[in-house]
Amino acid sequence: MEKTFLMIKPDGVQRNLIGPIVSRLENKGFKIAGAKLMNVSEDLAKTHYQEHQDKPFFGELVDFITSGPVFAMVLEGENVISTARLVVGSTNPQEAAPGTIRGDFGLTVGKNIIHGSDSAESAEREINLFFDEAEILDYSLINKDWIY
Ligand code: GTP
Ligand code: MG
Repeated sequence: MEKTFLMIKPDGVQRNLIGPIVSRLENKGFKIAGAKLMNVSEDLAKTHYQEHQDKPFFGELVDFITSGPVFAMVLEGENVISTARLVVGSTNPQEAAPGTIRGDFGLTVGKNIIHGSDSAESAEREINLFFDEAEILDYSLINKDWIY
């Protein structure tokens, strides 16, 4: 089934939002295939956000994402890439709808709580950047027939 990469950013970790955010993702019906608390090196941050390297906020973005631990996840589900982006909400929390993670928990675009892959290509690239194959588990949840 489809997989995507989500990462609770350092602001979400520092604000004790790992639990509430993971609950929302589980409640939606997504399966957690991999998860870990980790520090992001400067190299990894620059590679992960390479599409933004020419933007004026790139330095700020790299400094922020390396400023403390993040909670990285691989989620699995039908159309999980696009549906997880809906649960995450718009990039700018001031424009994100209530009920979304950014809409409910964030106030500024520079500290917007969580990242989610935006396409099949970025999901594959980002999963491989952050996770070893052995860290992604192949298992079934007993509730799957009640979701699909
Ligand atoms: P990600 O899931 O984090 O990739 O966010 P996104 O896909 O919704 O947005 P995008 O990829 O366009 O931007 C990546 C990240 O750069 C955003 O999540 C923001 O944290 C940050 N960012 C975008 N615009 C600005 C800005 O104007 N100022 C600052 N400081 N950060 C920004
Ligand atoms: Mg993005």
